[in-house]
Parts: sequence; C-alpha cells; structure tokens
Amino acid sequence: MTPINESERLPVLVVGAGAMGGEWIRMLATSAHAEPVGVVDLNVDLAAATVASAGLDVAVGSSLVEVAKAAGAQAVVNVTVPQAHRVVNEQAMRAGLPVLCEKPLAPTVAEALRQVALADLTGELLMVSQSRRYFNHLAAFRETVRSIGTLGAVHAQFFHEDHEPGFREQMAHPLLVDMSVHHFDMLRYLSDDEPVSVRCDSWNPSWSWFAGHAAATATFELASGARFIYSGSRATPGLQTSWNADWHVYAERGAAAWDGDVTVEADADADADADGVSFEVQDRSEGIEGSLEEFVASLRSGRTPQNEVRTNVLTLAMVEGAIRSGDRGGDKVMIGDLLEDSLAQAIADEQSDDVADILRSWTSAADGIATPAWGSSPAPIASGGAR
Ligand SMILES: NC(=O)c1ccc[n+]([C@@H]2O[C@H](COP(=O)([O-])OP(=O)(O)OC[C@H]3O[C@@H](n4cnc5c(N)ncnc54)[C@H](O)[C@@H]3O)[C@@H](O)[C@H]2O)c1
Repeated sequence: MTPINESERLPVLVVGAGAMGGEWIRMLATSAHAEPVGVVDLNVDLAAATVASAGLDVAVGSSLVEVAKAAGAQAVVNVTVPQAHRVVNEQAMRAGLPVLCEKPLAPTVAEALRQVALADLTGELLMVSQSRRYFNHLAAFRETVRSIGTLGAVHAQFFHEDHEPGFREQMAHPLLVDMSVHHFDMLRYLSDDEPVSVRCDSWNPSWSWFAGHAAATATFELASGARFIYSGSRATPGLQTSWNADWHVYAERGAAAWDGDVTVEADADADADADGVSFEVQDRSEGIEGSLEEFVASLRSGRTPQNEVRTNVLTLAMVEGAIRSGDRGGDKVMIGDLLEDSLAQAIADEQSDDVADILRSWTSAADGIATPAWGSSPAPIASGGAR
C-alpha cells in the first residue's frame, strides 16, 4: 500500500454515463485532482458517446471490474441510478476500490446499513457525494448561524418547476428522495444537529407531471430541541426558489437568512451580541468539484470525510422517516425506531454471509453507524489499482 503521489491526478472510473455521469466526466476531464481513465454503463454505446462528447479517449465497457483493471483505476465515482448504487458500490469495494457515490446512497436505510457493513468488511472508503454541502455562501451562512446563539428553528422552502423525464418522474417520492435529501443533508451541516423525529405530509398536486408525490411538508425535532420546518414542491409553476432552497433561522440572539444563492443576511440582538455578526465568503470549489476534492484529500490523508457512509445514514433516515410518517397519515416517526427496523430488514435481505455476519454483530443500528469510520486508522490508496 503506497500513498498516491501528491502531484498525481487520481485515476478514476466513472460508472453511469447518463445526464449526471456526463457532468462528472466533463468536470473530471479538467480537474487538477483526478482524471477519468474509464467509463462504464450498462449501455456501452451511451458510455462511448458521452466519452466522445467530452473529447476524451478512455476505456469504456459494461464491466466495472474489467474496465477498472484495464484502465488502472484507483477509485470509482458511482453515478448510476439510486437502485443500482449498492450493487455497484459492492463490486467496486470488493475489487479493492474506494467509492465516491452520488446521492441518494440507497433507496432505503436498510440498503444503506448493508453498505456500512460492506465498508467495514473491505476497509474501503465509501463517501456519498452530497454536493450541495459545497457552496461558499452556505459555509458563510453556517458561520452566521453559529454567531446568533442557540437555535430555535430552521425553516427551508424549496419550490421548483422540474421537467426531467426519466427515473425521477416515475419515482414514488421524487421530491423527498431525489431533492430533499440535499436539503436535509444541508440542515445537518448547517446546524451541527441531528434528527430525532419527524411528522410529514406528502402529496401530488392535481396538475403535476410526476407519477409520485412531488410536494411535501415536514417538521423534524432535532437533538438540541430545535425544530426544522421544511416545505417543498417540484411542480411549482412560478416564484421558484434556488435549487439550494430558501432558508431562515431563528436563534437566541437573532435571526439569519440565506436565499440559497449569494444573499446571506443577519439581524442580531445588538445588546446581547457583543461580537457582532460577521462572516466571510471563501473561494473554494463548489458542488461536485468540492466533494471530489474532499474525497481525494481523504484518500491521501486518511482523514474521514464529511458524508463517509456511516454519517450519511442519518441524512437518508430523514428522507425515509418523512416518507414513513406520510404513509402513516402524518404520525410522528422516531428516527431511532426507523434505524432499528432497518437493521432487521438489512439482516433479512442480505445475501452475502460475510456482510450479514457483520450486521448481526452490531448490538444496534446506532452501534453500527457509530463504529470507527474509515480513516480512523489511515488507509492510503493501493498503488496497484483494482484487484
Ligand atoms: N448531485 C446532484 O446535484 C445530482 C444531480 C442530478 C443527478 N444526481 C444523481 O446522479 C445519479 C444519476 O442520475 P442521472 O440523472 O444521471 O440518471 P440517468 O438515468 O440519466 O443515468 C444513469 C445511468 O446509469 C446507468 N446504469 C444503471 N444501472 C447501472 C449499473 N448497474 N451499472 C452501470 N451503469 C448503470 C444507466 O444505464 C444510465 O445511463 C442519481 O443518483 C441522481 O440522484 C445528482
């Protein structure tokens, strides 16, 4: 095991050459941190066309293991549809490759827990690319929120008119699963708080072009006692918010707001706030570029990244908790109960004995996601690429 040279670009295999796979390939083509050395898709013609349209000449194919080996890939970026994430992550990690996986990690928390066990088993890094954490104005907003004291409530609103034919328009919960997962993850980043329970109502407006529920409202209780109040719709024909949602926070010593783009505001209690409210907007890589840089830096340093698979389970639990509450007529769902039900489901579903043994060894799901994360003992990238 030899750490990758600081000056080298990490050779990565992109799996999934659809709309977002194309975004990743174009970004990687000019990245100083990684380079695309191969592209895999079930549809090999699509993989070849996406590679050609990015002006690249790299290996393509339908087998992750074969293309990774032939191309000398040392990591995988998984940009397949959510239903394929676990299978692709498993192939990669069993082949000795760390993975940066697009959100959502899996369709269910049970599938996510199976991937935590798989990461334990293989010792590979599995990080989820929650790319909306990486916005300079979100970081500035977080700094502002930290300066106004104990949080009372965080409100986020997301209203969009999204026309994206494909898997999204067929999903049961296109808002909560495909989009709110970003906002729920941003809440965890912004507040440094964790979800305890949720009540949710989800529905589909009569004019919606989505098959599933394109709209929802949800209230989460957080560990600190603060509340997160969320409303959203992907079928809103007017007055659209930023993709990042529109945020308002009320705290002990004032309030702060972010429009999801470049406007961060604060109104603090001047008497109580001797230090004042200040923030700096940094100039760091944003979106998928930001998450790629954190992934590569973690592989080089052995540091655990944000959204290493264990941490990301709680983001996914917010999504599934909201869906479960909606299915139960808005009843309060305890996130802890959801985690434990999901562990039982994960054990029942898991086909591989080695992964099932790890799941059964946990005293609880909470115990499983609290196990020492990748990076607690530095594990540099193997120089040989895929095994
Ligand atoms: N971070 C963001 O802002 C953002 C934006 C858009 C999409 N996404 C995520 O990116 C992922 C892909 O979305 P998309 O819009 O590109 O979908 P898409 O349907 O356009 O493309 C997915 C591709 O994956 C391929 N695929 C499916 N199963 C596979 C498998 N087992 N092995 C290899 N290839 C397989 C399909 O053939 C398809 O070409 C999703 O998880 C989505 O949520 C993230």
